[in-house]
Amino acid sequence: MPQPRAIPAGVQVAPSLLAADFGHLAEEIRSIKEGGAAILHLDVMDGHFVPNITFGAPLVRSIRQATQLFLDTHLMIADPLAYLEPFARAGADLLTLHAEALAGCPAPTAAGLARLREAGGRLGVLGCRLGLSFRPATDPLPWLEAAGDVLDLVLIMTVEPGFGGQAFRDGQIGRLEAAARLREARAWRYRLEVDGGIDARTAGHCAAAGAELFVAGTAVFGRADRAAAMREILRAAEAAVGPAAG
Ligand code: DX5
Ligand code: ZN
Repeated sequence: MPQPRAIPAGVQVAPSLLAADFGHLAEEIRSIKEGGAAILHLDVMDGHFVPNITFGAPLVRSIRQATQLFLDTHLMIADPLAYLEPFARAGADLLTLHAEALAGCPAPTAAGLARLREAGGRLGVLGCRLGLSFRPATDPLPWLEAAGDVLDLVLIMTVEPGFGGQAFRDGQIGRLEAAARLREARAWRYRLEVDGGIDARTAGHCAAAGAELFVAGTAVFGRADRAAAMREILRAAEAAVGPAAG
């Protein structure tokens, strides 16, 4: 059984490839690695779960061959259980599924929770980690209370999934705080990631609420100096929570 890779520790910026130049992917990926990134965020969209189409497992396989970065794969697809093996075998290190796709509705139905646990079991065999994400209107807490023990990552969306470059929704800060409090109370392991409209102005609020992993598309790939873009987000996040202990 392949060993899953650890999600890179501490506060991290995860540049989203969605905002990169797809004609020069290898160079784009190299630029964020040289700029200090340890994680690459991959947005998979199927035109059903969200009204946009991006790419599938073959591109993930090519990216895997081009980089050792931790591949954080955000599946915005209607039937994620049908694609766990293709994406894991292509080299994804983490697959984040949407709760609404598992249940067919925002609430955690028994069938939706059973699918989530099944996904965790299948990904474990494949050496891949499991994340769960939520549209902004979905309350994560009932899902996390029921199945937070199986999750390696919780992704709180701060925009409606489907497109890069949207404005940050600060109404999601309370969801982050609630997910962080629950993790603390239950001593669970999931890491907290935030995605959508993240930049040096918004990252601090998210960090103060408990976010550790900051997905950023436009704010990183929209700048010529990727190292500076990532550094500014990291500094904003670290300033909000104070210097690391020790
Ligand atoms: C949106 C995607 C995001 C997107 C973020 O559905 O999940 O990862 O790339 O883009 P920015 O950082 O531009 O908001
Ligand atoms: Zn994403």
